[in-house]
Amino acid sequence: MIDLAAFSRQDFATVLELAQRFRCLPVAGARKLPALQGRLVTSLFFEPSTRTRSSFEIAAKRLSADVQSFSPASSSLSKGESLLDTARTYLAMGANLLVVRHRCAGVPQQLAAELDRDGERVAVLNAGDGLHSHPSQGLLDLFTLARYFAPEAPSPAALAGRRIAIVGDVLHSRVARSNLWALTACGADVVLCGPPTLLPEAFAAFVDGPPPGQAVDPVPQRGRIAIERQLDLALEGVDAVMTLRLQKERMQQQMITSLDAYHRQYGLSHRRLAHCGKHVPVLHPGPVNRGVELAGELLDDPAISLVDEQVTNGIPVRMALLYLLAAGEAS
Ligand code: NCD
Repeated sequence: MIDLAAFSRQDFATVLELAQRFRCLPVAGARKLPALQGRLVTSLFFEPSTRTRSSFEIAAKRLSADVQSFSPASSSLSKGESLLDTARTYLAMGANLLVVRHRCAGVPQQLAAELDRDGERVAVLNAGDGLHSHPSQGLLDLFTLARYFAPEAPSPAALAGRRIAIVGDVLHSRVARSNLWALTACGADVVLCGPPTLLPEAFAAFVDGPPPGQAVDPVPQRGRIAIERQLDLALEGVDAVMTLRLQKERMQQQMITSLDAYHRQYGLSHRRLAHCGKHVPVLHPGPVNRGVELAGELLDDPAISLVDEQVTNGIPVRMALLYLLAAGEAS
């Protein structure tokens, strides 16, 4: 599972439906399902992570899988072992599913292709690759929005015709890219907002034409993407707002004039949200720069912030992905 560009609306529906079933399981009592008993899920994280890694590991454990995690700093990578040989080592120990995060775009895909060529029967799940894609985050954001609009039956239809704002550092965000594919596939229109340094004009055409490597788009009619530089105008009439972290570690040079100025122009607060004209939820993939992209009081306001809900939903969504991939492997 490398990215969401090639997902059809039915693919999204399948994941949301299964995630909802896992989400509705009783929290107390028998929490473990036997589905992945005897399977080994290995997480290979070459880049830091708090949420994604833990969430995948908890999801795997809830399905009774064995879980092994790899830490690059204390591994033989420092002795020059290649990434492919590292993966092969874990396969030799019986890994059935590899969850891979890397700072370079394309690594999980390349790894999957190499292992496929070797004839290995292993599933590779992309847990974030460079600026390219973060499919499980895109799916959990979609699930969170679909549950907000249709708590009993979250499906792509719950997103159709909605207007979703994505605000902030779009340029460095693999989460935004995955969300653009997911939201437009479900028929939502997206309004992007940010300064030109962090939101190049080219994003307006991000989903135009077939997804990379595909002859045709699996989604016959996508929602549209628009760019609006002024936050107050971008918020007019939206149904939800997604904010993004300012990814300072990925910026080669100063791309904003100052954090204060950025917050004044693009920071979300209760006062700013009034421009939506109605009550709307706010999402953020985390980690949050408090007081920069999002005012602290807004992040902590349970009537508006879905941030904790996103984290909670990450587990059933990743359970669904592991389940579907392991089932594919069995068949
Ligand atoms: C994001 C990531 O790592 O891509 N975080 C996450 O997985 N929840 C976004 C970010 O780092 O800002």
